[in-house]
Amino acid sequence: MPTIPKHRLKTPSQGQLCPPLSRRSPHSTRKKTIYRSLCLALALLVAVTVFQRSLTPGQFLQEPPPPTLEPQRAQKPNGPLVNSNNFWKNPKDVATAMTVASQGPQAWDVTTTNCSANINLTHQAWFQGLEPQFRQFLFYRHCRYFPMLLNHPEKCGGDVYLLMVIKSVITQHDRREAIRQTWGRERESAGGGRGAVRTLFLLGTASKQDERMHYQQLLAYEDRLYGDILQWDFLDTFFNLTLKEIHFLKWLDIYCPHVPFIFKGDDDVFVNPTNLLEFLADRQPQENLFVGDVMQHARPIRRKDNKYYIPGALYSKASYPPYAGGGGFLMAGSLARRLHHACDTLELYPIDDVFLGMCLEVLGVRPTAHEGFKTFGISRNRNSRMNKEPCFFRAMLVVHKLLPPELLAMWKLVHSNLTCSRKLQLL
Ligand SMILES: *[C@@H]1O[C@H](CO)[C@@H](O)[C@H](O)[C@H]1NC(C)=O
Ligand SMILES: *[C@@H]1O[C@H](CO)[C@@H](O)[C@H](O)[C@H]1NC(C)=O
Ligand SMILES: *[C@@H]1O[C@H](CO)[C@@H](O)[C@H](O)[C@H]1NC(C)=O
Ligand SMILES: *[C@@H]1O[C@H](CO)[C@@H](O)[C@H](O)[C@H]1NC(C)=O
Repeated sequence: MPTIPKHRLKTPSQGQLCPPLSRRSPHSTRKKTIYRSLCLALALLVAVTVFQRSLTPGQFLQEPPPPTLEPQRAQKPNGPLVNSNNFWKNPKDVATAMTVASQGPQAWDVTTTNCSANINLTHQAWFQGLEPQFRQFLFYRHCRYFPMLLNHPEKCGGDVYLLMVIKSVITQHDRREAIRQTWGRERESAGGGRGAVRTLFLLGTASKQDERMHYQQLLAYEDRLYGDILQWDFLDTFFNLTLKEIHFLKWLDIYCPHVPFIFKGDDDVFVNPTNLLEFLADRQPQENLFVGDVMQHARPIRRKDNKYYIPGALYSKASYPPYAGGGGFLMAGSLARRLHHACDTLELYPIDDVFLGMCLEVLGVRPTAHEGFKTFGISRNRNSRMNKEPCFFRAMLVVHKLLPPELLAMWKLVHSNLTCSRKLQLL
């Protein structure tokens, strides 16, 4: 059995409904139980109130509220808003609130998109020679942050140990559904006295105009049911995946600053949460943990027919810094917050996992390779027996790539009464 990691016992933070009891206080278990019950009752009351309010018929299938007319520029968020209605707090509380506020915004502070194409580029010869998708990318490269359409500020309330965030697009409802039924299922405890495991999907808006209205309403409904969608007002295209990356990191910095660990991945992978949690059991959140399927000295692809083609005008160096495949990786929450600031110093790069490697390089942190992450494919041989071998999946942490029917079937097999040879377990 893994021992309880020390990091769990953090000091009560402001605004938390039920701060954990201090570890040194000599409370008896009985007192703890009463305290817990009281907190639970209070939390339930709040939850019921929120639920009832949010289900008023008018709001049920409403479009997201229109952005306010405040002239706030998308690319340069203004300073934090400090509430002046602090008279009811004692002076000490106010002081703390101000210090916290000075570190960063308390809520998503981008409410309008006011970012026009950088037409300066059109005069430059190298730009005119680029493929249309790269021109599109460069036109809007300076537009860094967009408003939120669906948010869940409450997601990290209480004691959350692991936050699982999954990149998804609006049309792939079936993938989200399969993940909720399998590896993305939330848990109240990660085991060994650790906190909860929570799940969120990260989305932009439909990339095709005709899909937008219809799917947006369905998504709002899906979010009412599950409460697990974060959506931002940018087009969900391949090159905008980097936007998704930096939007999530900014979100985390605001709404989830104390989570010890984060798993981030795609919606077409198989994840073994039991193994993830076992792996994390002897890690400390203050470590620079960043682990996945790491590529060393990868070269930018110069063949135009490849999905990952990058013209020399966009990246001229011979190789990329080390990076972990975006299909699925683990990182410490504290490192993720530092990454947020590091990424803000760089220009956006169209490949999201490479971009994150660049941010890590700014911090001087090297990602760690682990055998259990197979995000660049299992075997070069497509017909390899491994692709269908449940004992293999049981031994892994993340495997690319499984679509909903395969994922559901494999999940069932892995959790059946399986007898695996020792050799595979060690893989
Ligand atoms: C948007 O930007 C344009 C040009 O920079 C400016 O004229 C306009 O006032 C801005 N609008 C808002 C709402 O900020
Ligand atoms: C375009 O060029 C002008 C003048 O050099 C500069 O002020 C402006 O910031 C540039 N626009 C962008 C989006 O870089
Ligand atoms: C990214 O999203 C923005 C905002 O919706 C859009 O203007 C831009 O064209 C998108 N970029 C690419 C490369 O698709
Ligand atoms: C599972 O396997 C064990 C040992 O191989 C066996 O004793 C047990 O009966 C099996 N259970 C089921 C439900 O098949």
